[in-house]
Amino acid sequence: MKNTEVIVHTKFRISRVDPRIFGGFLEHMGRAVYEGVYDPGSLHADSEGCRKDVLEALRRLDMTVMRYPGGNFASGYHWQDGVGPRDKRPTVRELAWQSVETNHFGTEEYICLCRKMGWTPMLTVNLGTGNAEEARNWVEYCNCPLGTRYADMRGMNGHKEPHAVRLWCLGNEMDSPSQLGHVPAGQYAIRAQQAAKMMKDTDSSVELVACGSCAITLKSYMEWDREVLEHLGDFADYISLHRYVGNPDNDTADYLAVTSSIDRQIEEMDATCRFVQAKRRSGKRAYLCFDEWNVWYKNHELDGKGKVAPHLIEEIYNLEDALVVAGFLHSFIRHADVVKIANLAQAVNVIAPVITRGGDLLIQSIFYPFEMFSKRRSGTALRLSVDGPSYEGITNGRVHFIDASAILDESRLHVFLTNRSMDEEAEVCVVSADTAIASCESAEMLSAPDAKAANTFEDSSVVKPETFETFVIRDGRAYCLLPPLSFTAMTFRID
Ligand code: AHR
Repeated sequence: MKNTEVIVHTKFRISRVDPRIFGGFLEHMGRAVYEGVYDPGSLHADSEGCRKDVLEALRRLDMTVMRYPGGNFASGYHWQDGVGPRDKRPTVRELAWQSVETNHFGTEEYICLCRKMGWTPMLTVNLGTGNAEEARNWVEYCNCPLGTRYADMRGMNGHKEPHAVRLWCLGNEMDSPSQLGHVPAGQYAIRAQQAAKMMKDTDSSVELVACGSCAITLKSYMEWDREVLEHLGDFADYISLHRYVGNPDNDTADYLAVTSSIDRQIEEMDATCRFVQAKRRSGKRAYLCFDEWNVWYKNHELDGKGKVAPHLIEEIYNLEDALVVAGFLHSFIRHADVVKIANLAQAVNVIAPVITRGGDLLIQSIFYPFEMFSKRRSGTALRLSVDGPSYEGITNGRVHFIDASAILDESRLHVFLTNRSMDEEAEVCVVSADTAIASCESAEMLSAPDAKAANTFEDSSVVKPETFETFVIRDGRAYCLLPPLSFTAMTFRID
C-alpha cells in the first residue's frame, strides 16, 4: 500500500471535545440493570447491591453521562413505581421487552450509582404512555427544594437535598412505529412541547433533548426532525440521533467504511438544525445528542417471555466491531462542533462492552477503542487531512484505508488511526504542519489475528490492546507502521 500522510495544524480547530460524548446508556432491558450493575445476590455485591466487578470495569471507560431508564422501556415506565420503600414497589408487566419489572432499582438507586461512578445523570421521561404532567412531576421530585409534594416525596425517601438532574430526554424513539405510544411527528411535537414547557417551568436549568429520527431508513427521516424542531423552538437544547450498524452480508471492507455514513448522518441532522434555526430567525440552535449508538446485528432476542432479567441481545463483539466502534468515535471528534453528547448503547450485558456470567465478567473487544479514546479525550478537536490510498465500499462508498481523528491538548497531540486494510500494513506519517512532533508519551494498538476474533470467557485476551512500538519520530514527524485491521491511539508531545 502507498504511504498515507495525516496532516494537522494546531490552529485549525473544530471545537473543544465535549466530554459528554463519552456517555453510556443503562436501560431496564434484559440483564443490564439486574445481574448487570445491580445484583444484591452476587458475591461481588457492595453494600448497596451494586456489582463491584462490573463497576470496576466500567470505571476504566470513564463514562461521563449515563442515560436511563431507556430506551423503549422508558415509553411505558411510570417513575413513581420505582421510588419509596422497595418492598412496597409494584412488580409490573413490562411491554417493550415482554419482561417483568420488579422496580427494585429505580430513581434513588440510579442516582446513588451515578454518584458512586461520577456519572452525570440523564433521564428519559415517558412520552409514550405517560404525559407532560408526569414528566414535570419527576423533575420536581429530582430537582426542587423540599416544601412541595414531589420534592417532599423525595425527602420522605431519605434525600433532603435535590438530585440536581440537568439533562432530560423528551421520550425515546417516538418516530418508530414499534414504540409504545408512537404518534406522527406533529402529535409528538405537541406532547414534547407541553412537557418541555412544564419541565422548564419547574426547573429552568434543565436541558432538554428532543426525540429525533431513530433510523436513517425510516420514511419520516429528516421530515420528523424538521417538524419537531420547528414546533419545539427554543425548548429543544438538543435533538437525538440513534444508529446501530452491522455486517450482515459479511463484507468487512464495506462494514469498516460505514464511518462515512455516520459522518453523513451527523451532517444531515446538523443541516436540519441550522435550517430550522434560520427559518425561525432564532439565535438558538439545537445541538446533536447521539444518545444511542453501537454495533448491533447478530442477536435479535427481544422477547423477555415474562421473565425478570431475561437474556436479551447479548451481542458478542469481535475485532471488526471494535474497529467500527472506533469509527463512531472518530466521527464524533471530527464533528465536535455539533455533537455535544453521545451514549454508547449500552453499558453492560445488553449490546455491551462488558458482559457477566454468574460471578464472572468478560471485557469485550468494543471496550478497548472506547477506553483508548476516553483516556485521551481532553482538548480541542483538530481538522485533519488524510492523503493516501482509498477503496470503494459497496454500500458506503469510497473511503481512505486510514480513518483518523486528532485532539490537541495544549502541548499534547492525541492522534487516533484505524487501518481498514484487511491484509496490508500501512505506512502512515503524522505531520503537524505548524509544529514539530517531539516525542511520544504513550501509544497503544488494538488488533487480532483476524476480523472475527473475539474474546470469550474461556479466552479473554484474544482482542486487547498492546503497546505500539512500530513508529519512529524523525524531523518533527511520526512515521508509523500500522498492522492490517488495527486501531492505534498515540499521544505526542509537540514543540
Ligand atoms: O438499545 C436497545 C434499544 O434500541 C433501545 O431500547 C431503543 O431505543 C433502541 O431501538
